[in-house]
Amino acid sequence: MSTHPIDATTTSAWEALSEHEAALTPDLRGWFATDPGRAERLTLQLADLHVDLSKNLVTDETLALLVQLAEQTGVADRLAAMLRGDHINVTEDRAVLHTALRRPAGASPALVVDGQDVDGDVQAELAKMSAFADKVRSGEWTGVTGERVRTVVNIGIGGSDLGPVMVYEALKPYVQDGLEVRFVSNIDPADLAEKVKDLDPTTTLFIVASKTFGTLETLTNARLARTWLWERLVAAGAIADDDDARTAAVAKHFVAVSTALDKVAAFGIDPTNAFGFWDWVGGRYSVDSTIGTSIAIAIGPDGFRDFLAGFHAVDEHVATTPFERNVPVLMGLLNVWYVNFLGAHTHAVLPYAQYLHRFPAYLQQLTMESNGKSVRWDGTPVTTQTGEVFWGEPGTNGQHAFYQLIHQGTRLIPADFIAVANPAHPLQDGGVDVHGLFLANFFAQTKALAFGKTADEVRAEGTAEDIVPARVFTGNRPTTSILAAALTPSVVGQLIALYEHITFVQGAVWGIDSYDQWGVELGKKLALEIAPAVQGDAAALAAQDPSTRSLIATYLELRS
Ligand code: F6P
Repeated sequence: MSTHPIDATTTSAWEALSEHEAALTPDLRGWFATDPGRAERLTLQLADLHVDLSKNLVTDETLALLVQLAEQTGVADRLAAMLRGDHINVTEDRAVLHTALRRPAGASPALVVDGQDVDGDVQAELAKMSAFADKVRSGEWTGVTGERVRTVVNIGIGGSDLGPVMVYEALKPYVQDGLEVRFVSNIDPADLAEKVKDLDPTTTLFIVASKTFGTLETLTNARLARTWLWERLVAAGAIADDDDARTAAVAKHFVAVSTALDKVAAFGIDPTNAFGFWDWVGGRYSVDSTIGTSIAIAIGPDGFRDFLAGFHAVDEHVATTPFERNVPVLMGLLNVWYVNFLGAHTHAVLPYAQYLHRFPAYLQQLTMESNGKSVRWDGTPVTTQTGEVFWGEPGTNGQHAFYQLIHQGTRLIPADFIAVANPAHPLQDGGVDVHGLFLANFFAQTKALAFGKTADEVRAEGTAEDIVPARVFTGNRPTTSILAAALTPSVVGQLIALYEHITFVQGAVWGIDSYDQWGVELGKKLALEIAPAVQGDAAALAAQDPSTRSLIATYLELRS
């Protein structure tokens, strides 16, 4: 693989796409009317996901040119490099091997990277985590008073929180009765206080999840949780008020997940109660590592293995399917088309599945921490726009909030609609299947966005002429529809892997390192520098710029 990215904008495919765009008038009504095979031809199967790309603003020629762009920018080489463990995370000099986390046991040939038996280590850690999960689920693992665990509190942030909480919410119907998982992430003390306020310390297990075990928010919350545990146990007479009792309490009520097991021990957590992973797993790509311990406890090791199998099915598809039929590649290329040729700034993800209500939030980190970059992996400036803003809310709530802008606003907003056919709760309302009614909205929205409503159609409804313009829908608002039979652990894994690979494809075309995140460092460093000023240190306050100084001074005045 070249040590310099190919500049996408200098390729012949880019030039051809620019000319093609200039000559193209999007016309979904016309395209469907004149091409009866369009829907079938542009609908693909990705493991259990039925993916309909036909309502996108593309012709066969557009897709062919986009595939050429992928070929000319070396996407295939970069994918192969990632899968075999090359250090494609150049700025951190690391392999990028989240796909290794979901390789099945006994996969052949074995994956050995930088001298590490990757498959063996992954399976060993998975087995250790699974054994622990089983103990918690069976009640064999108890707190200091011999009570079984009823509540697991995952303390983590970013990738050590967003993935686990999203998947836990998505798979609620699979959670063992009598077990609950809560998630604390924000350093705002309100988060921890609210999450533990009604908990019984004797039945609570904390998982401190941090890849680096150096993240301010997580370590602060972990210390607060430890103090809460000790105080409540002592107050309840469950433990003596001495150091030995406190150490014993931590051993039974705290476990950790990290790549830095030395720091775990320094915190006071026994490393035998810690689950590891490796620096080749990015935080936002880590939900399928032991960072998912809370999920393994909630849904069980078998469910967790199904979850991993879902990821792996998508990995197999992306690695072996020609780009013309490769769903993550095509979806990544469509995003490039919208961002770089049609001027889209954002991308909506709209799950028509309440259990996926945290999916857009999860995708925000995955996509924007990965592709929000202005330089390429060799340090040169990017030559075109990169990472669009991902956002969304579950349907139908979004319909009553922001869909107005998607339907009739001035901005182009590509949107992914995601739904499952079989709900966990098949409720009826007066003989009407409510989930069917819900999905009627999914189908109606994607139809309205694609085909709109002409002025003549509005007039035909008897609308007064002066109101007609306000009631016209231009259509040609692009959507991708994704349908699965049910929201199983495997399907959730498939959805995550799909978006991981979409993110990869976009980054590869743009020539950026999608696996570093230097952009979060400056704010972290400044927060530490500013902290003394906020605590009232006059010299630290004086050292601030005028605006920051004034804001902190106002805060200090307002603080009662
Ligand atoms: O926000 C920056 C970041 O490094 C993320 O990439 C990561 O997921 C998060 O912080 C948490 O990091 P850690 O797991 O090391 O606590």
